[in-house]
Amino acid sequence: MARHLITSALPYINGIKHLGNMVGSMLPADVYARYLRQRGHDVLYICATDEHGTPAELAAKEAGLPVDVFCAQAHDAQKAIYDGFELSFDHFGRSSSAENRDVTQHFARRLHANGFIEERAIRQVYSLADERFLPDRYIVGTCPHCGYDKARGDQCENCTRVLDPTDLIEPRSAISGSTALEVRETKHLFLLQSKLAGEVEAWIDANSADWPTLASSIARKWLTEGLKDRAITRDLDWGVPVPADTWPELAAEGKVFYVWFDAPIEYIGSTKEWADAAGDGETRDWNSWWYEADSGENAVRYTQFMAKDNVPFHTVMFPATQLGTREPWKRVDYVKAFNWLNYYGGKFSTSQRRGIFTDAALELLPADYWRYFLMANAPESDDTSFTWELFASSVNKDLADTLGNFVNRVLSFSRKRFGDEVPAGAAAGEAEAKLGEQIAALLAEYESHMDTLQFRKGAQALRALWSAGNSYLEEKAPWMEIKTDPEGAALTLRTAMNLIHLYAIISEPFIPGSAKAMRGAFTLPSDDAPWVGAEEARALASVPAGTPFTVPPVLFAKITDEDLASYVERFGGDPDQAA
Ligand code: MF3
Ligand code: ZN
Repeated sequence: MARHLITSALPYINGIKHLGNMVGSMLPADVYARYLRQRGHDVLYICATDEHGTPAELAAKEAGLPVDVFCAQAHDAQKAIYDGFELSFDHFGRSSSAENRDVTQHFARRLHANGFIEERAIRQVYSLADERFLPDRYIVGTCPHCGYDKARGDQCENCTRVLDPTDLIEPRSAISGSTALEVRETKHLFLLQSKLAGEVEAWIDANSADWPTLASSIARKWLTEGLKDRAITRDLDWGVPVPADTWPELAAEGKVFYVWFDAPIEYIGSTKEWADAAGDGETRDWNSWWYEADSGENAVRYTQFMAKDNVPFHTVMFPATQLGTREPWKRVDYVKAFNWLNYYGGKFSTSQRRGIFTDAALELLPADYWRYFLMANAPESDDTSFTWELFASSVNKDLADTLGNFVNRVLSFSRKRFGDEVPAGAAAGEAEAKLGEQIAALLAEYESHMDTLQFRKGAQALRALWSAGNSYLEEKAPWMEIKTDPEGAALTLRTAMNLIHLYAIISEPFIPGSAKAMRGAFTLPSDDAPWVGAEEARALASVPAGTPFTVPPVLFAKITDEDLASYVERFGGDPDQAA
């Protein structure tokens, strides 16, 4: 048994996430966490909403709410969806928590004490009307390149050129529209990453050998381009305040830390929130997961999940921040990075209402349909595309036909012929021995893919396990056997029922809801086995004759052609590009 710390990239607070966000971080982390828990490991799966920064302020403004009220509501809305997807977080926190404020300020003080933070004066746009400095994207004006009149200070949306606010013609405040702007000098904290570059590189050299190429190649690319010092404070109302004990002047000016400084620290902050939420008589030791956790009895293996755009922050910047504290904070051991999930070959887009958002997905179909499809098609080695056609065929073939139909067919037939207890029948013969060998071999394959976080291959092996049951059933054909050899038919059904119980256990990481229904079909005196050993897989005898069972409602409904047409119609699609 080992201790596994798992985190998935913190979803931004502004807006409901789409399926691409889900499959690139939280869902695979959950599948892995569930798998490891079932294998008997001590798992802590931590996530949170990423609540600070300009996007949060803008979204709150749009919603007409104070930013703290907006964030509280948006956090609950996201949490409800993740519950719907059955994400088994040990804690889903908030980067705006008091815990994260404390840890973030502690990190900043330590970095300062070690000479890695410096105050520097920079020139920035100040709005007289708004009485505040404006972040680049709060300044709008006419693009000097293409003449677009709503270009933002950081980039022109129309011609995509990167801009500096001073490039804009007739600049004005995005908040008030006022043109009364002036450039003023103001001080900010800079993290001297350049001083830490060598150490980060050495750390990556020593630790990234087994990371997926996607993660290690992005990390290397950033190091080659050079780690630059960067401003880690902003002039915003919403954020972790700069600690007054260390920087009284900046604190008095209301400076807060930049969102990308406090967000990864929230992995630790959220773990503290988890500990602080312990019930009476329960002890939760957050420290042992993060501090001096590299070796010894308490050694932790730390795995992070994220989409590729997040890799630099997790493999270079956050490790640099951690190293700079000169304290033994746990650093990531394995970085599982994902490519993009596209929608019919194009980007998911909130503004163009293209693609499927997590709330809409759950309104349409239960979580397991999405969980299975997304993981079986996870963008691990390449970008992949969601199409309704692919989704429908995968749900119909794998879930409805191969798994669901097997379960319902076996249980209903046995009940009709032998009543509501598992029948005894003949002793296991050659076909059962062969099946047992096959199941044990496939299970070993499944485990090895899951142990190495290869989820598409894991899903394939799982599907092969389901198929093996179907082949066995087709071969034995109990509906024929029953006519000439009822004892043989009973054996076949009992064996198939044991497969159902095995599927219930091993499918749980991917489809927890259906797994529960499958397991719940049998009334065993004790049914707490977390996993199936090779011997048990070979024997297929954990559900003995005489065990009462019920027939669960149909596990997976097929997606009909009419359903498919209505989904495409409602969500948009591109039949020409459909796979
Ligand atoms: N909110 C960021 C995003 O969606 C991810 C933050 S991950 C963390 O891209 F490490 F900063 F927490
Ligand atoms: Zn332009």
